[in-house]
Amino acid sequence: MNLSSRAEPIKLGILGASGLVGQQMLRLVMQRRWPLGELRLIASAKHAGQPWEVEGQRGVYLEASGQAFRGLDLLLSSAGGPVSLKWLPEVASAGVLAIDNTSAYREDPGCPLVVPEVNAHELDSMELGQGGIIANPNCSTIQLVVVLAPLLREFGLAQVVVSTYQSLSGAGTDALAAFEDGTRRAMAGETRDLPASVLDVLPQIGALDEAGHSEEERKMMTESSRILGTEISLDVTCVRVPVRRGHGESVWIETREEASLAQVLDILRSAPGICLAEGEDQPTQAGTAGDLDVHVGRVRGVSGSRKRFQLWIVTDNLLKGAAWNAVQIAESLFVRV
Ligand SMILES: NC(=O)c1ccc[n+]([C@@H]2O[C@H](COP(=O)([O-])OP(=O)(O)OC[C@H]3O[C@@H](n4cnc5c(N)ncnc54)[C@H](OP(=O)(O)O)[C@@H]3O)[C@@H](O)[C@H]2O)c1
Repeated sequence: MNLSSRAEPIKLGILGASGLVGQQMLRLVMQRRWPLGELRLIASAKHAGQPWEVEGQRGVYLEASGQAFRGLDLLLSSAGGPVSLKWLPEVASAGVLAIDNTSAYREDPGCPLVVPEVNAHELDSMELGQGGIIANPNCSTIQLVVVLAPLLREFGLAQVVVSTYQSLSGAGTDALAAFEDGTRRAMAGETRDLPASVLDVLPQIGALDEAGHSEEERKMMTESSRILGTEISLDVTCVRVPVRRGHGESVWIETREEASLAQVLDILRSAPGICLAEGEDQPTQAGTAGDLDVHVGRVRGVSGSRKRFQLWIVTDNLLKGAAWNAVQIAESLFVRV
């Protein structure tokens, strides 16, 4: 896609620009040579006034304020739910289109929740130049629906069961720093006061509800059906593992129609955004970090059934799980301009 052919340069803001996701958004925008008229990097008071320089452009971080957002065309927003709830209504009503990476607007029927490979048509009512909020889904949800969508279309889905293996970068800068520091100390032989994230696998991400589901599990269950456009029976266990970057998912599906393993592989091979591993070389979280695709491996049938299959799905939570999905959404709007 040739973005530089767009006539009007874009006035872009990145809210949460100093964070793990914000930094990846910035890197992608620069690598893909978006035609930028202006670039504002916005963060909290902690970074306000600090200089930044990227690809010949320079400036200072701005603290989030009405002034910092004024006059933008597009805001890539990734500074946590409360920050989005505070600023995005004002930003959108001032005519800025915001693509929000937090959970703040994912259940709002007025805000499309989009994974471009699956439901890009939801963007039909959105225009660059008109204010609005588009929600970027949860990281673990994105990689799952990219894979479920083509299988649902072809065979229907009766049931899906998922266990996630989620990396520490999914919990933000502070959690990743604590994990990295703890890992360094453990490798140096220290045993005292090491964080649980270094030593263990943690089977709960976010608060539990009355039914016993964690916050992360609830997000995956609600968001997946909304993006796929139909209620699917989905059971999820979300687990944090001592990995720096990349989320893995062990997935069991039951299709409605009978299918052969060869048919399932054919569908996955030709589906957008998927890189299918068919040999011995299986995708791992560290091994695929930095890559934009959703990697699928270990695809196999459950013996005695023509409806049950198992797969392993991996992607970089900071890229397809966050920044890359947001950038893809924005680029699909540029193409229509
Ligand atoms: N990490 C992932 O894999 C991932 C995936 C999908 C979605 N998300 C969501 O994306 C958001 C950001 O995640 P992250 O991992 O990038 O977090 P992070 O590394 O902790 O970064 C948070 C960013 O938000 C800024 N911020 C915090 N409070 C602010 C305030 N009051 N006003 C303005 N800016 C403020 C921070 O600025 P300062 O540095 O100046 O404080 C920083 O730039 C979260 O909502 C998260 O749930 C994350």
